[in-house]
Amino acid sequence: MNTCVEQAARVIQDAQRVEVFTGAGMSAESGLDTFRDATTGIWSKVDPQAMASIGAWAKDPEPMWRWYLHRRDLALRAQPHAGHRAVAASAKTAVTTQNIDDLHERAGSGTVTHLHGSLFEFRCSICARPWRGEVHPETIPECPLCGNLIRPGVVWFGEALPHREWEEAEQRMSTADAVIIVGTSGVVQPAASLPLVAFDLGTPVLEVSPVATELSRYSRLIQGTAEKVLPALL
Ligand code: APR
Repeated sequence: MNTCVEQAARVIQDAQRVEVFTGAGMSAESGLDTFRDATTGIWSKVDPQAMASIGAWAKDPEPMWRWYLHRRDLALRAQPHAGHRAVAASAKTAVTTQNIDDLHERAGSGTVTHLHGSLFEFRCSICARPWRGEVHPETIPECPLCGNLIRPGVVWFGEALPHREWEEAEQRMSTADAVIIVGTSGVVQPAASLPLVAFDLGTPVLEVSPVATELSRYSRLIQGTAEKVLPALL
């Protein structure tokens, strides 16, 4: 292990409660594209305003519906990697994720807070009643209660984050003894402000990323990938 990882591993060893804050880079080695990586990023091929905004849903829900079900299938076919498993195997970790896949859960993490929702949850777009029925790309189900369209249970641009999840994440960031940021560019607010809750309290903040990010100024950057660094760290 290089000294940087060794020093960081000691910070984790001395901690009781470690909050792992993840973004799309955490799922990259499981084969799921990130959003802003040059050439491979999802937003280099899909316009977020056209496919991930509440306005686009109101205007033309069908393409969005098909795209989210397609991403759900990709997530189902992906497998957690050694980084997910290292996080799950450590009894001292909890996860706050911006990701909408279920790789942390499938690796065995017991506490996973989704700030941006999940590809595996659906609800009525008006009355918010959860939908647990079948979903198929060709037809959007209608709510049995109010008759409006069922939508993916994800947070779109222009929408607020779920209140309970935000409170949970903020609370854990303020009581963690160490934070590990993994695989986020740190450009999307308010999620990216969460590690600063810990930083402002003087809590050690580590970051696992191949490149420096918007959050690197608040953390100790361990340059590397999630699958390779996390097992050494945890
Ligand atoms: N291991 C660790 N980090 C990686 C890896 C890897 N194997 N591969 C890429 N990364 C890094 C990239 O360098 C980048 O800094 O992961 C980060 C991914 O950043 P984004 O693509 O911007 O994804 P994210 O930060 O999760 O985006 C936040 O934006 O579009 C919205 O709702 C969406 O939750 C998402 C939010």
